[in-house]
Amino acid sequence: MTKSNPAFENSWGNRKRADSYSKLEFPNTYYLAYRDLPAIISKHTIGNRAIDFGCGTGRSTRFLNKTGFDVTGIDISADVLGIAKELDRTGVYQLVTNGNYSHLGTSQFDLIQSIFTFDNIPGWENRTNILMGLRNLLKPTGKIVCLDSTPELYTHEWASFSTKDFPENRNAKTGDIVRDIMLDVEDRRPVEDIFWTVPDYYKLFENAGLTVEAIYKPLGHKNEPYNWVSELHIAPWMIFVLSAQTASNNVSPIRH
Ligand SMILES: C[S@@+](CC[C@H](N)C(=O)[O-])C[C@H]1O[C@@H](n2cnc3c(N)ncnc32)[C@H](O)[C@@H]1O
Repeated sequence: MTKSNPAFENSWGNRKRADSYSKLEFPNTYYLAYRDLPAIISKHTIGNRAIDFGCGTGRSTRFLNKTGFDVTGIDISADVLGIAKELDRTGVYQLVTNGNYSHLGTSQFDLIQSIFTFDNIPGWENRTNILMGLRNLLKPTGKIVCLDSTPELYTHEWASFSTKDFPENRNAKTGDIVRDIMLDVEDRRPVEDIFWTVPDYYKLFENAGLTVEAIYKPLGHKNEPYNWVSELHIAPWMIFVLSAQTASNNVSPIRH
């Protein structure tokens, strides 16, 4: 597998997958992705102007809007944006191309939220270019909140995902394609993601001029109304809080 992974296609760039995804709200393992976000966002950000990068069919954009942000959802797929606009007639959604975001307003945003988007983005250079473009949108006090799958997601069983049919995931290296089956939607075709290790996320952020301010790995709790499988002991998601590097903030991250 090459580093840029030319074989990888954005799974969400077709209408059937987009329709299936649009019916998802926050079931099971997805609940853990969103449960702690309001507290994390409020702890690390000030102001209310936001971009939702990789907004998909708008679930994450509507979530951010409900928490009080004035938010523009952006995505590379016209299909998902069509559904997002149908579901949220007053929402603001825009089609973008990789790394070209300056029309949205340089140094204008308090928050750039990215939920599950980098799981779908191949290539070091491509990812770095995208992150640099997003960094330029941030106000000096602005933050990027970037949530993606942990490497462990692809080698365990979960309330929302199965990976047992893909033992080759265990040998994945950064940039490789990994597969899982989503259990919460009717469409049971394997979903392909791009695998990325935690140390390589740190390198990527460094390359893009971003500092990791904090990292969160939410776990399930026994008293929650879900049939947790691995979620009580292993985190399916990791949430990075990033700021633009300056000479004074290039420090070690807080770990939670
Ligand atoms: C798994 S979906 C997540 C959607 C949404 N954030 C949510 O939580 O419901 C990932 C989204 O990222 C989008 N995406 C993938 N690569 C992208 C890129 N290079 N630029 C912008 N969006 C991208 C996909 O089209 C898809 O809509």
